[in-house]
Amino acid sequence: MQIQHDISLKSYNTFGIDAKAKHFISVSSVQELTDALNLEDYPDIFILGGGSNMLLTQDINALVIHVNIKGITIVSENETHVLIKAEAGENWHEFVSWCLVRDFGGVENLSLIPGNVGTAPIQNIGAYGVELKDSFVSCEALNVHTKELKSFSNTDCQFDYRNSIFKQEAKGDYIICNVTFKLTKNQHKLHTAYGAIQSELDNIQISNPTIQDVSKAVITIRQSKLPDPKEIGNSGSFFKNPVITNEAYQKLQILFEDIPGYPVSQNETKVPAGWLIEKAGFKGKRFGDYGVHKKQALVLVNYGNANGTDILNLAKLIQNTIMRIFGIQIEAEVNII
Ligand code: EPU
Repeated sequence: MQIQHDISLKSYNTFGIDAKAKHFISVSSVQELTDALNLEDYPDIFILGGGSNMLLTQDINALVIHVNIKGITIVSENETHVLIKAEAGENWHEFVSWCLVRDFGGVENLSLIPGNVGTAPIQNIGAYGVELKDSFVSCEALNVHTKELKSFSNTDCQFDYRNSIFKQEAKGDYIICNVTFKLTKNQHKLHTAYGAIQSELDNIQISNPTIQDVSKAVITIRQSKLPDPKEIGNSGSFFKNPVITNEAYQKLQILFEDIPGYPVSQNETKVPAGWLIEKAGFKGKRFGDYGVHKKQALVLVNYGNANGTDILNLAKLIQNTIMRIFGIQIEAEVNII
């Protein structure tokens, strides 16, 4: 374990923001993580996983602990299911690929989501009709205060749309060290109802898709809409899709006939923030080194050397404009640091 000082975090966050860490350490086991937390000279800590859901608007004047614990193991299996434990530092998509090679089903719709296994539960990552919570069994997390490992069941995590206990009451108290998933070995339950998946499968003329086909379709759709962070810095969807009352939605339909909406409960409708942002004229807008992605308005991008404050100010401008035009408050999905 070696502590570095004043290092750039540009390659550690998918937005590619050049903020600095005052101190930095990479840990590859729970023991190393505990040791790092016990370093008396560095009482202030900041936990870094895949860096895929954060916007750095300032240097981090603390010890940045990069969780780099690796390993994927089969815990148990029967005729139909397998329990797999993946360590927090595993790259999410590499974990999905590991499962697909072995024909384990359940996470194929979550192909190509940036980030790591250990940070996936925090915001209950989701795409194309599937969320992490659908295959999540439990995780072990280290309490930063007591340094004890605690197991969280699926219910304990209080998963919701892009939300969990780790973003709410347990925020800042735990570091997820590993996650256990329950996946299918056969009779996979495919989720192809999400419009774009079905049409992509039709496109490649596949009528009896395998989980590998579904993954391929998801990858094609994502690559056609979402920028690759290796090429253009971004954090995926910057905002959450807002949920409004049916009454508010009906009023908006009078003004904007084509406004899309998906019922989420008896009284509420979810409106795609991407549509609102596009309608407000921001899609594809570029301001110097930052802007709104041209193929998906929910994604803010860094074309090179933007700083976090520029992007945050653009996000605020978008939020204020959406409020003024539609009377809807859209919330950031990304953590602003
Ligand atoms: N839309 C537009 N213009 C845009 C983008 C979207 O009008 O520029 C409208 C269209 O009506 C479209 C609808 O939004 O039909 C939905 O678009 P899409 O299927 O691309 O999904 P999304 O709501 O924009 C969400 C997730 C994505 C996830 C996709 C697919 C959120 C905040 N985002 O996006 O997640 O990949 O669904 O499931 O829920 C992420 O969280 O980083 C992420 C990329």
